Amino acid sequence: MILIDGKQTAEIIKAELAVEVENIVKNGGKQPHLAAILVGNDGASETYIASKVKACKKVGFKSTLINFPATVSENELLQKVIEINNNADIDGLIVQLPLPKHISEKKVTETILPEKDVDGFHPLNVGKLALNLPTFISATPYGIMQLLERYKIETAGKHCVILGRSNIVGSPVSILLSRNTYPGNCTVTLCHSRTKNLEYYTKQADILIAALGKPDFVKANMVKDGVVVIDVGITRVSAPGTEKGYHITGDVDFDDVAPKCSYITPVPGGVGPMTIVALLKNTLLSLNNNLITNL
Ligand code: GUN
Repeated sequence: MILIDGKQTAEIIKAELAVEVENIVKNGGKQPHLAAILVGNDGASETYIASKVKACKKVGFKSTLINFPATVSENELLQKVIEINNNADIDGLIVQLPLPKHISEKKVTETILPEKDVDGFHPLNVGKLALNLPTFISATPYGIMQLLERYKIETAGKHCVILGRSNIVGSPVSILLSRNTYPGNCTVTLCHSRTKNLEYYTKQADILIAALGKPDFVKANMVKDGVVVIDVGITRVSAPGTEKGYHITGDVDFDDVAPKCSYITPVPGGVGPMTIVALLKNTLLSLNNNLITNL
């Protein structure tokens, strides 16, 4: 069993990005600049945003963090998005989700200029992804593709079974892995909450991507020997007495499943760190005006 070390891979990619940024600036180019908007005080969102800002610093990007209280009006938030859209120095903008209930995530996402939508959430960018046109690939799918590529995992002709059909992970990953590219050329099965006899599918998987948000859901008796497992789950499970009071738990029961795997991502330290790197990569692509068709 080979552990897919997302933390280490993310560090390697960050070092590559830092060299790229250094060269751009040395040659008189502009420093990449990511803006992030955080609304309210959700603990997980604060942690994610802090990691994103820290990663920017590490690779030599400029970053601007805008904090709004949870009571901010939708209009005020939209005005800030428009202001950033019009700021030529800013290459990428993310608005951390979820947003408070009185604000429409759809409206906010659709207000971000597609050219600055480094999260790849704008409908225009999602449509381009589906049509295999150059666009920003959202962070988690991009991170997963990078891990498959960096670990040289064979994908052509493999049966990839995806658990979860979310707009952020399951759906885009199903598109990317069915493309005629590397990583890609998989036969893809997308399973969801209405799938009957789920184990029938998971047992067939050469590559299993678990993105359903149910801690420890995948057990050893659900997979075949030699499977590649990519665990996208990041649920906070209460752990009284520990420093933080919780553990981050994946969708795969790691100790149970790992002995049967050829490759597996741990949680934490698997897909998670790669998502931040993907965001940085997209910001650099935005600056260079060089979007992705093939990974
Ligand atoms: N909330 C959870 N994941 C993400 C992400 O990738 N981007 C944004 N903007 N919010 C998130």
